[in-house]
Parts: sequence; C-alpha cells; structure tokens
Amino acid sequence: MNRIRSERRGSVELLTLDRPKALNALDRAALEALLDCCERLAADPSVRAVVLTGEGRAFAAGADIAEMRGLDAQQAESFSRLGHAAMDALESLAMPTIAAVNGYALGGGCELACACDWIYASETSRFGQPEVNLGLIPGFGGTGRLARRVGSAWAKELVLGGEPIDAKTALRIGLVNRIFAPDALLGSALDAAKKIAGKGPLAIATAKRVMVQGQDADVRTAHALEQAAFGVISAGAERAEGMDAFLEKREPSFENR
Ligand code: CAA
Repeated sequence: MNRIRSERRGSVELLTLDRPKALNALDRAALEALLDCCERLAADPSVRAVVLTGEGRAFAAGADIAEMRGLDAQQAESFSRLGHAAMDALESLAMPTIAAVNGYALGGGCELACACDWIYASETSRFGQPEVNLGLIPGFGGTGRLARRVGSAWAKELVLGGEPIDAKTALRIGLVNRIFAPDALLGSALDAAKKIAGKGPLAIATAKRVMVQGQDADVRTAHALEQAAFGVISAGAERAEGMDAFLEKREPSFENR
C-alpha cells in the first residue's frame, strides 16, 4: 500500500501520488506517506527541487470521502491535524516544490497543490474546494492558503460556492503559474526543477524561508527577517562564487559550497 512513488532524476525528486483507482484520494496512509517523504527530503541536501504529481487522471480528488464518512468529531479533528502536519512539512521544505497538476485538484488535492511553492497545470485540469457540497469545510489548510494565493474574494467563491474552475480560470486568478498541454506538463515541471537545481541551494533555501516565515509576520518583522538573512547569506561562499563568476564573466559553480 505505497501511496507515493519516489524517483530521483538527478538532483530533482519526483513524487507521484499513486492511487489512481480512487483518483489519488488522500487517506491517512497517503498523508503519512507524504510526511515520511518530507522527513526524508528535509534530511537530504542533495535534493535541490521537488516535483509532485498524480498518477492517472487526477492530481488528487480530495481527502478520502469513504475514510472520512465514519469519523466522529474527535477523529475528524485528528485527521485534519494530520493533513495540516503533512501540508506544513511540504511547505517547510528548504528546496522549491512544484505541483504538476495533471487533472482534478479538488478539496484536499487543491490544498495539497497550494502547499507547494507554485503550480503548473495541464490545460485539462480542474481546481476546486467542493467540501460544502458534502456538508463539510476544507480541512487541510484551504481556508487560509488559498486566500493567500488568489485573494479572499476568489477564495470565498471557491470555498463557499463549491464549484470547480477550469485551468484557464485558475491561471487567470493566479492559482496556477502556467498551463501546458497534458503531454508537456510533467516534462516542463521537471525542466523548471532541473534549472533550479543548478543554482545556489543556500540562497534559494534562505529566500524561501524568509518568504514563508515573512508571510505569517507583520511587514516590519518580515523586513527585519529579510535584512538579517541578507547579512548572513552575504558572508557565505555561495554569494562569493556567484558574484566572482559574474565579474569574471563565467558561469558560477555552486557545487559543494
Ligand atoms: N474520496 C474517495 N474516493 C474518491 C474521491 C474522494 N475524494 N474522489 C473520487 N473517488 C473515487 C470514486 O469513489 C470512484 O471510486 P469507485 O471506482 O470505486 O467507485 C473513483 O474514485 C473514480 O471516481 P468517479 O467514478 O467519481 O469519477 P468521475 O470521473 O465520474 O468523477 C470527480 C470525478 C468529479 C472528481 C468525482 O470523483 C468527485 O466529485 N470526487 C469527489 C471530489 C470531492 O468532493 N473532493 C473533496 C473531498 S473532501 C475534502 O477534501 C476535505 C478536506 O479538505 C480535507
């Protein structure tokens, strides 16, 4: 019952949700597998970027409705807490994460995509928070992360209206960065990840940490975080190599710095 397939492609880790018969619905086993993957990736500096996608015709069609059906209030809260822990672990990874959304990203699936740094999607993908149609609300961060990405008016339309949107609309509202023909999606996401993998990992990790922490802070605290991190990164070997390479008109080499 391996819910997530992991493959290394050079310095890039490809994670594939692998329960296509249930449209990759997220049950406890999938969330625990995601936590395990994140723990492993957090301890592996050789992984410079992550691409997350889904096997079959869905990215993920939500939390597992069959598994949730029998939960009492306490169990449902615990399930939501597990989902949040998995999304937080993904969001906190030092390396960039790209969701390659190949089909449905609904409910918990949309929340999972939003826990990645950005989303690429196929032209045929669909996004939504349909929980109200089940008499439910989002449980893996959708009431917060979605609004940060698309603003509160669109987040309210998606969460309170419960209707899905197509890829073009997702692109227009800023939920998705780029859309691709279905056949080109995964290759494009992997190419973007590979490009990142050649850049300075410490600078990327620092910028990501400051952005993730800064979005939860007031603007002055966020600016102070940036200033302190700017100082630290400026004293490092990566910054020295990057600037030397520019001034010497050559490509930088960030390996082992
Ligand atoms: N949970 C469990 N199983 C699911 C599922 C889900 N979220 N979504 C799809 N499946 C299963 C279906 O039950 C079906 O299984 P069987 O073949 O055993 O019957 C299989 O996946 C294929 O699904 P469909 O036959 O329904 O496929 P379709 O093409 O007709 O419809 C769909 C696709 C529109 C995505 C439809 O499956 C659907 O509406 N799924 C549910 C979407 C949803 O409501 N998601 C939110 C869940 S709640 C949530 O996520 C809460 C949270 O934030 C934590």
